[in-house]
Amino acid sequence: MKGIILAGGAGSRLHPMTTAVSKQLMPVYDKPLIYYPLTTLMLAGVREVLIITTPRDQPAFRALLGDGRRWGLDLSFAVQDEPRGLADAYRIGADFVDGGPSALILGDNLFHGHEAGRVFAQAGRSLDARRGAVVFAYRVSDPRRYGVVELDGQGRALTIEEKPSNPRSPWAVTGLYIFDGQAPAIAASLRPSARGELEITDLISGYLEQGRLGVERLGRGFAWLDTGTPDSLLDAATFVRTLEQRQGFKIACPEEVAWRMGWIDDAQLARLADSFGGADYGAYLRGLLTAG
Ligand code: DAU
Repeated sequence: MKGIILAGGAGSRLHPMTTAVSKQLMPVYDKPLIYYPLTTLMLAGVREVLIITTPRDQPAFRALLGDGRRWGLDLSFAVQDEPRGLADAYRIGADFVDGGPSALILGDNLFHGHEAGRVFAQAGRSLDARRGAVVFAYRVSDPRRYGVVELDGQGRALTIEEKPSNPRSPWAVTGLYIFDGQAPAIAASLRPSARGELEITDLISGYLEQGRLGVERLGRGFAWLDTGTPDSLLDAATFVRTLEQRQGFKIACPEEVAWRMGWIDDAQLARLADSFGGADYGAYLRGLLTAG
């Protein structure tokens, strides 16, 4: 399965922080925001990733991530010149996915939970003739801010709506979506919504109408965090700091994930550690080699 990270948009709710710097490059405690969705894909076994950014910000993302080879990845880049909506990712990424299955993750979504990678990888493997797409639902206290999926008694999707004023359920659709090779064709057929965007909920509805949408509910042991406002960005940073300090393990460290996935060996991890000089981040990576 390939991966797409959608990391464009204006980030206007974070202005002036994001007036000159992309939202997905903002720090979440000790690393840039995009490391979180990137490592979510990595933990799901995804190594080939397309990163979609604004034209302005692409050089900064390239400077940060490079071609990904040092983490055992194959990263490529594309631009979205206007924020035309989330489903636009599959117009831009049609050649990249090349008829195969893919995971789309929003560059500002932070997932953390036990065996998250296994859950997402398993969803990717579950695609077949009867299941063309999988979304992950998360119970929230204010569903009006999200895409909302209504479920029947068996957990099957009945309806899906974008930011409804009267939500039919508390189940938000999170910003990680798994689609089969049909996604670009459905995206190509979409019309902009009343707010002028190619809506991801319309793309998902295409699968729902065919009876081919799967919904996986993420339990309460999972954390799915927002980073769209100054408060939620600070809350996310505090969450990461609390867990990291308590456990002594970093969340969303691409070097560590690549090493644990077996994509880089001890010598490569040691070289990456050295590249950070005296920074704490390098000391953490060196510590992994001795502590395991
Ligand atoms: O976070 C999950 C939610 O994400 C879902 O529940 C909603 O169904 C989905 O529409 C989306 O809602 P948001 O209100 O969070 O979408 P937003 O417009 O903020 O875009 C999410 C991210 O995608 C944001 O970091 C900017 C980026 N983006 C957005 C648009 C519209 C792009 O890169 N390009 C775009 O054209």
